[in-house]
Amino acid sequence: MNTVELIRKKRNGLPLTKSEIHFLINSYQNKKIPDYQFSAFLMAVYFRGMNETEQSALTDAMINSGKIVDLRKIKGVKVDKHSTGGVGDKTSMIIAPIAAAAGVKVPMISGRGLGHSGGTLDKLDSIPGFRTDLSLSQFKNILKKCGAVLIGQTKEIAPADKLIYALRDVTATVESIPLITGSIMSKKIAEGIDGLVLDVKTGSGAFMSDEKDAAKLAESLIRTAKSFDKKVIAFITDMNQPLGNYIGNWFEVHESIKVLQGENVEDLLELSLTLSGAMIYLGNKAGSIEEGKKISFELIKNGKAFEKFIEIVKNQGGDLKYIHNPDLYPKSKFSKKIFSPKTGHLSVINNYDIGMSALELGAGRRTKEDKIDPKAGIIFYSKIGSKINKGDVIAEVFTDNKAKLEIARDKILNSLTFSHTKTKKLKIIKKIIN
Ligand code: URA
Repeated sequence: MNTVELIRKKRNGLPLTKSEIHFLINSYQNKKIPDYQFSAFLMAVYFRGMNETEQSALTDAMINSGKIVDLRKIKGVKVDKHSTGGVGDKTSMIIAPIAAAAGVKVPMISGRGLGHSGGTLDKLDSIPGFRTDLSLSQFKNILKKCGAVLIGQTKEIAPADKLIYALRDVTATVESIPLITGSIMSKKIAEGIDGLVLDVKTGSGAFMSDEKDAAKLAESLIRTAKSFDKKVIAFITDMNQPLGNYIGNWFEVHESIKVLQGENVEDLLELSLTLSGAMIYLGNKAGSIEEGKKISFELIKNGKAFEKFIEIVKNQGGDLKYIHNPDLYPKSKFSKKIFSPKTGHLSVINNYDIGMSALELGAGRRTKEDKIDPKAGIIFYSKIGSKINKGDVIAEVFTDNKAKLEIARDKILNSLTFSHTKTKKLKIIKKIIN
């Protein structure tokens, strides 16, 4: 096959065949196609898109660039969740134990945070001793024994994605629905799952800020999952404000513990029950999402979900003393309360800026090499729709870097818009697609 001809074909809007797509992915992975040609191919896909057959072929080629984890010997339906990420999104740590306590097998492979958006792996790494770098055989053993395991991407799973993503990052081709779909679904399908719950976020703190784009991505992910015979449900959910109140790595573990112990953090609880409800439904342990939600709530109330969380932490080497008593966790050297400069109704939050404020404080990274401070973060007390009086505490920031306190305060205050008239609370679940 001739690479230039294939690039030209895609550039002219003609569909590529399955074998042509496999050739391009295999050749790039084996360094037989240089970066400049593969970049041209990516840009052609960016402008021309892909049809369903091409999308499945791309995903298949990326899956087969590595191993498919064989979980068939482990009894039970294996269901994972993927979220497109955002600010304060800590649901994985809440729903994995809930779904596992309901009898679903939960093999979770998560990512790190980058920019304004946090990552489950960094959150779990904030638990002293917790190991996310397990081998695939350890991953399978824990899954079998405990019902849930949360680790990071391994070298064996869809290695082509890592190479292609790095190139997309520097060629302005990240924001392409077929390329995002191939990237997400190849990693998820290679995990050996039977079902997947998708949390596609929309709003100012989301990767896809526009709701129509988020819905298009969700539909593409669903079509592709179904073409591999996977059971799938997608939710379009709101990311116009932080999810829950805590932002930052240990802060988010702490808030997850609170929810698992029965605290009603409204939006976070509602989203967690919905996602775990859908996982329980896909895992054949409930007849509907609604029933799955009820089971989830019951597992929180009777303590079984929190017990399962403890079991997960123990199996993965985490120090349980901080889980039983989060107040023992080391504190940031500096903190500052942020007071409202005016009276009004909170109407808009630039949630991207809230995420970037957490990054400034040390909770995030600008480049993959940056180190994060697990203690740093924000407690954000306000939600859109709240009535706030001048002088009320809107948020509190925590860091070891004193100079960042003022920077974060200014960024947070500048991200808020107040209205004289009443504003509506936001609904966390915007749409369900299945
Ligand atoms: N997340 C991924 O895993 N891949 C993308 O391309 C975008 C977001």
